[in-house]
Amino acid sequence: MSDPAGPAAKKLFIKTYGCQMNVYDSQRMAEAMGAEGYVLTEDQAEADMVLLNTCHIREKAAEKLYSDLGRLKPLKAARPDLKIGVAGCVAQAEGAEIIRRMPLVDLVVGPQTYHRLPAMLRGEAPAILTDFPEEDKFDHLPERRATRRAPAAFLTVQEGCDKFCAFCVVPYTRGAEVSRPVARIVHEARDLVARGVREITLLGQNVNGWHGIGEDGREWGFGRLIRALGDIEGLDRIRYTTSHPNDMADDLIAAHRDVPQLMPYLHLPVQSGSDRILKAMNRRHTADQYLRLIDRIREARPDMMLTSDFIVGFPGETDQDHDATLRLIEQVGFGTAFSFKYSPRPGTPAYDRPEVESAVADARLQELQALLTRQQKATQQAMVGRTLRVLFEKSGRMTGQMVGKSDYLHSVFVDAPEARIGDLAKVRILETAANSLRGELSA
Ligand code: SAH
Ligand code: SF4
Ligand code: F3S
Repeated sequence: MSDPAGPAAKKLFIKTYGCQMNVYDSQRMAEAMGAEGYVLTEDQAEADMVLLNTCHIREKAAEKLYSDLGRLKPLKAARPDLKIGVAGCVAQAEGAEIIRRMPLVDLVVGPQTYHRLPAMLRGEAPAILTDFPEEDKFDHLPERRATRRAPAAFLTVQEGCDKFCAFCVVPYTRGAEVSRPVARIVHEARDLVARGVREITLLGQNVNGWHGIGEDGREWGFGRLIRALGDIEGLDRIRYTTSHPNDMADDLIAAHRDVPQLMPYLHLPVQSGSDRILKAMNRRHTADQYLRLIDRIREARPDMMLTSDFIVGFPGETDQDHDATLRLIEQVGFGTAFSFKYSPRPGTPAYDRPEVESAVADARLQELQALLTRQQKATQQAMVGRTLRVLFEKSGRMTGQMVGKSDYLHSVFVDAPEARIGDLAKVRILETAANSLRGELSA
C-alpha cells in the first residue's frame, strides 16, 4: 500500500460518460483512490475495481450504463473479488435501483459524495451514498498530487443548477448551485500552473453564475474571478464552460475585451430560436434578447467564436418554431454546435407533455445539423491562411507531428519535429479537414 507503483498496487479502471465535469470528477476520484494504493489502468480485464462515472442527461446516455454493466457480468463471475462502482448522475438519480437491477454492482456514489469512496470501499460508509451533504467534498479530497500534468486542464469552480429548464435533469442530479471559494480556486490554478499547465478551462453547469467573496472582501462575479486568474504568471489561456445567457454579466463581457488570456471562444447554449418554445422550456429569455447579447459580446471581442446547444422536437414544437431556430442559427453564425433530439426525462416538468412525432423530430434534427455543419465548415475554411497560436497537447500519429488547439479550440495538426508538448507555437493554417485543421510552424 505504501508503494502505489509496486507489485502490490491495485488497479482501477474508470470509464467516464457525459460532460467535462464528469471528466474532472473522474480525475479527482482517481486521486482519492490513489491515496488508497490504487493505480489507474486502461485495461478493464486486469482491474481490481471498475468505476463507471455516468451521465443521465438523455435516455440513451443512461441506458449505456446498463449495457456496460451487462458486459461486465462474465468478468465478475470469473473474479468475484472484482469491485464494481457506479458514480455520477445516474447514480444520483437512480441510487439503490441500480443494485436492484444489476446485483453485481458493489457501490453507488453520487457526484457530491465521492470523497467518501475510499471509506465505502473499506466498508466504513454505506455502499450507497447519494445524499447532498453539508460538507464540501473538495475539503475532503486529497491535494492534486500528480507531479507533472498535461498542458491543458479542467478546474471545477461551480456546481449544480437552480435554473430548472423544463427538460433537464441536472438540477436534480447535481443539486443546488454552489460556487467554490476564490482562495481555493486560485490555489488550485497556481498549483496546476506549477505542474506545467498553461491552459485552464473553468467548469460549472452554470459557470458564469459563479460568485463569491474576493480577496478584497467584496462580492466578486465571474468576470472578476477571471481577472484574478489572469494575474497568474505562466497561465497563458483561460476558457470556461458552460454558460447560461442570463448570467452573461457586463463585467464578464468586458473581461473578454480586457483579459488577453481569456480565449475568444464562447459556448452559449440557446436550445431554440422560438420564443414560444423558449418559454415552455423555462429558459427565461427571448430569441431577440439572445441575439442582442451576441451583438454586445462581439462588440467587446469582434473575433469571438460562438458555439451552442440545440434541442429539436421539444413538446409542442411546430414547423414555425423550428424555422425560427433555423433563422436564429443563420443570424448568429456558429463555429460549431451540439444538437439533440428531445429525450423525455423522468422527474422533469416536460416529462409528461405530448411528444412531437419521432420521424418529424428526426427530420428537423437532420435539417438543423446540415445547416450547422455548413457553418462549421465555413468557419474552418476562414482559418486557412491565418496565423494562429496553437498549444501542443500531444504528438500525432505521423512521426514529427504535433496536435494542439488553436485559440478557437480547433484541433490543429502540425509537422513540428523539434517541438515539445506544452509549446505555444505560431502556426500558419494550410488546409481544413473534417473536424480539424492542418498547419505549418510560422516564424
Ligand atoms: N448547463 C448547460 C447544459 C447542460 S446539459 C446549459 O444550461 O446550457 C447539455 C445539453 O444537453 C443542453 O444544453 C441541452 O441541449 C441538452 N439536453 C439536456 N437535457 C436534454 C433532454 N432532456 N433531451 C435532449 N437534450 C437535452
Ligand atoms: Fe439544465 Fe437548464 Fe440548468 Fe443548463 S441551465 S443545467 S439546461 S436546467
Ligand atoms: Fe450528464 Fe451529469 Fe454532466 S447528467 S451532462 S454527467 S452533469
